[in-house]
Amino acid sequence: MGKVVFNMTMSLDGFVAGPNDGPENGLGDGGEALFNWYFSGDTEIPISDGNMVLKFSPQSAEILKEAFERYGAGVWGRRTFDIAQGWGGHPPGSPCFIVTHTVPQEWVKEGSPFAFVTDGVESAIRQAKKAAGDKDVVVCTASILQQCLNAGLMDEIQIDLVPVLLGGGVRLFDHLGAEPIELERTRVVEAPGVTHLIYRVIR
Ligand SMILES: NC(=O)c1ccc[n+]([C@@H]2O[C@H](COP(=O)([O-])OP(=O)(O)OC[C@H]3O[C@@H](n4cnc5c(N)ncnc54)[C@H](OP(=O)(O)O)[C@@H]3O)[C@@H](O)[C@H]2O)c1
Repeated sequence: MGKVVFNMTMSLDGFVAGPNDGPENGLGDGGEALFNWYFSGDTEIPISDGNMVLKFSPQSAEILKEAFERYGAGVWGRRTFDIAQGWGGHPPGSPCFIVTHTVPQEWVKEGSPFAFVTDGVESAIRQAKKAAGDKDVVVCTASILQQCLNAGLMDEIQIDLVPVLLGGGVRLFDHLGAEPIELERTRVVEAPGVTHLIYRVIR
């Protein structure tokens, strides 16, 4: 059985998007600085069925290639799905489970890469694990990470830490319970414009 892992890019002050994020302002005010390292190297990695090509430094490319190869399914929240406008039907990973209260019927069709889960995060993780088999399930949104941590469902956290202070926006470690969650740092990779930090969640 694979692990449940988290991966997002975070500002040094703890935000994964700046203020006023939305479909016309994907990463919020100033938030595009979070993804500079995605496009500033020479090592090309295609994602989203080749519809997008990222350009990483060799250090970032190595750690991300390893991670991408391990991912067998992904879980996202509905805000990210809406802001990304369903990635034009080519999500960055599939099978792709979207946690939501309401199913967007236009995406319920033969060959849709999306499965919409309306009965909560535990159900989404269970379904994604089944789809992933021996591979990992990757979680890529803030609210889903928070719920997974509160429910004891997360095995590993990878933060791509970017040296920018956004001052506001979508805070990654929000809405957590009162009990501390202990982590063990298992890997650090320093790369141009980003530090990759991997932690095991101690349970
Ligand atoms: N920095 C990065 O690496 C990175 C990567 C991707 C995205 N982002 C940014 O992250 C932000 C989105 O993160 P987010 O945490 O605000 O939102 P999110 O996790 O993408 O979506 C939250 C929404 O998912 C649905 N949802 C969540 N839990 C649910 C549950 N238990 N049951 C039913 N529905 C549930 C609800 O939508 P409904 O009630 O509408 O169904 C909720 O409003 C965006 O700004 C995006 O651009 C950053």
